[in-house]
Amino acid sequence: MEEKKVMLSGIQPSGDLHLGNYLGPLRHWPEMIEEFDCYFFLADLHTITVRQDPAQLRRRVLTQVAQYIACGLDPEKCTLFIQSHVPAHAQLGWVLDCYTMFGELSRMTQFKDKAAKQKENINAGLFTYPALMAADILLYQPDFVPVGEDQKQHVEICRDIAERFNGIYGEVFKIPAPHIPKVGARIMSLNDPSSKMSKSNLEGCVTLMDKPEDILRKFKRAVTDSDTERCVRFAPQEKPGVSNLIQIYAAVTGKSFEEIEEAFAGKGYGAFKPAVGEAVVETLRPIREETERLLADKAYLEGVYKAGAERASRVAEKTLRKVYKKVGFVPRG
Ligand code: TYM
Repeated sequence: MEEKKVMLSGIQPSGDLHLGNYLGPLRHWPEMIEEFDCYFFLADLHTITVRQDPAQLRRRVLTQVAQYIACGLDPEKCTLFIQSHVPAHAQLGWVLDCYTMFGELSRMTQFKDKAAKQKENINAGLFTYPALMAADILLYQPDFVPVGEDQKQHVEICRDIAERFNGIYGEVFKIPAPHIPKVGARIMSLNDPSSKMSKSNLEGCVTLMDKPEDILRKFKRAVTDSDTERCVRFAPQEKPGVSNLIQIYAAVTGKSFEEIEEAFAGKGYGAFKPAVGEAVVETLRPIREETERLLADKAYLEGVYKAGAERASRVAEKTLRKVYKKVGFVPRG
């Protein structure tokens, strides 16, 4: 029998999961678990490149485990784990730090953006972050890594690091491909369509746990465009606000851009914005309710992430042992 292809992806529990995380990568993950050998993790090690409140971080990690399951990741059919529970990530991360160049890290746009935002805390972890992300990926030898547009550069540097390592030591790592969805790869902020939706701008960001009335309010107040035409038409350059809403509506309803334009022809933004809000409310409602139900059962969640860490560790340690041997470390025996 042919072996299943492997895929892996992760999200940082650095804030509540939002619509960008969901419509970009997360909603596609459940479709993949039947066909592929899937690893989904919570990238908690990455979150401390920015100062975190410890109690909040713990709460968010548990919530995110529940949300992964509520979004359809059946823990019996995939490996769901927390990054800090598998020490091989940090161990391989260090090795890969030594095969990653200062120059290439300096070119990472996310590093430049984050460094500009937190001038008082430009720590070494923020800089070497892509090497740890490369370790997250390469430990599991995946064929592909589904992410949103903003993480493409990090998957590309991961490929460069893996090729460099393989070039010295032979075929140690499989070279993974990024997998970017056609619709939803870059959801923009609702109150500032020139920047991507992110946890740092709450009014422009819809989280998976937001109450329906808050979601509707955020969509009603969504910034649309100051063009005179005021019609629902997909044109990201000219009309970034309304095009973002069309993209969101297309992603949650499965309709094409043309179908949406036709349905709202002559109706203007006033009718379109609440319709998008309602469609999002209905998409997120079952996820929120299921998350709340799962959060009440801490023992179940603990069972899931413990079993996940055990399964992930077995695979990750195999790759780590191979790497240690290649670079010349003496095995403990
Ligand atoms: P993070 O936590 O910032 O985002 C998680 C995923 O959500 C996507 N995403 C978006 N997609 C569409 N529109 C948006 N506005 C939007 N905002 C975020 C991201 O592209 C990403 O796919 N470094 C990673 C986490 C990570 C990882 C990994 C991912 C660590 N190790 C290994 C894959 C494989 C990050 O910070 O993503």
